[in-house]
Amino acid sequence: MNKKITILGIESSCDETAASIIQEESGKIRILSNIVSSQFDIHKEYGGVVPELAARAHIEKIDLIANKAISESKINLNEIDAIAATAGPGLIVCLTVGLNFSKTIAASLNKPFIAVNHLEGHALSPKLNTNLKFPYLLLLISGGHTQYLLVERLGKYKRLGTTIDDALGEAFDKTAKIIGIEFPGGPKIEQYAAKGNRDKFQLPKPILKRGGCNLSFAGLKTAILRIKSSINTEQDKFDLAASFQKTIEEILFEKTKKAFEIYINEQNTLKKTFVVAGGVAANKGIKDKLMNLSVENGFECLFPEINLCSDNAAMIALVGLEKYKKKLFDTLEFKVNPRWQLDENAKFLKGSGVKI
Ligand code: KG4
Ligand code: ZN
Repeated sequence: MNKKITILGIESSCDETAASIIQEESGKIRILSNIVSSQFDIHKEYGGVVPELAARAHIEKIDLIANKAISESKINLNEIDAIAATAGPGLIVCLTVGLNFSKTIAASLNKPFIAVNHLEGHALSPKLNTNLKFPYLLLLISGGHTQYLLVERLGKYKRLGTTIDDALGEAFDKTAKIIGIEFPGGPKIEQYAAKGNRDKFQLPKPILKRGGCNLSFAGLKTAILRIKSSINTEQDKFDLAASFQKTIEEILFEKTKKAFEIYINEQNTLKKTFVVAGGVAANKGIKDKLMNLSVENGFECLFPEINLCSDNAAMIALVGLEKYKKKLFDTLEFKVNPRWQLDENAKFLKGSGVKI
């Protein structure tokens, strides 16, 4: 018998309040609803996310968003098999809202509760639109994280490389801010870049030829700050954005080549799959560059659908679904874990004096 499995996912780790219902039947996963409410307008005037304001907005919205996800999915509440919620990493005050809300629903429906690592949501997200199978090499590029990981199976990750300073999304956002693009500027860099000269400014590529597939982006911010003082016209801004975009593409190209080598040495399998996920995976220039590199190196390259790159609850429901099938349930005592890592054994690699 092929039972349908229906999961409600809830996400509130940062500045998106999100709820989604997904359903698996005969091995096929369908997204029945996927509601995301972003808080851009709330944080815009501060130039970044203010945790207390974000938490308050989650509290105000979460009920509405979850109800919308349920009504759009056209399922009955009693069809839900489990409730999955992000428990970390993220902002503690924000995580708490979604987690407590989800526990309350799980208790009132008397259904299993599943705590999800937000990064695992990104890691598995291409499974929502492709036939993704373990193991694979993952490049996770989001606002808070930048890592190469060997994904062995559900819950089993080995970090191969990480940023030693800023996350890539953070580098995009900081660059946008310096150029004068309104928050959240990261996604707009590409639009500016499209009108600029990619060779106008020379920017550094820190630790490009050393440190394995570890990465560093802080030096770029410093260089951009310096160049900013000589910028006068709108065209200069386009040129700076284009030069930044080009530099990032080149860094990821080199570091991914290195990560391919490390992955092949680590993994005794002929299966070569490369997944790129997280908010920055929506960047078309990066996607094209890494797709080409993958073809050259015999890797199948998978990205999530563009609307599933940034934070959403469908990816949280997806991890919930995979855990549900393995009966990996959590108790209602489960606490938020703002620093929850995918590879708990990985060394902390940030700050001066770090050896890479
Ligand atoms: O995964 P995500 O939605 O949230 C986190 O878990 O951090 O990633 C958000 C990050 C932001 O830093 C945003 O600027 C960046 O992803 N981002 C982009 C693009 N779209 C989103 N960066 C570069 N190009 C884009 N098209
Ligand atoms: Zn995220």
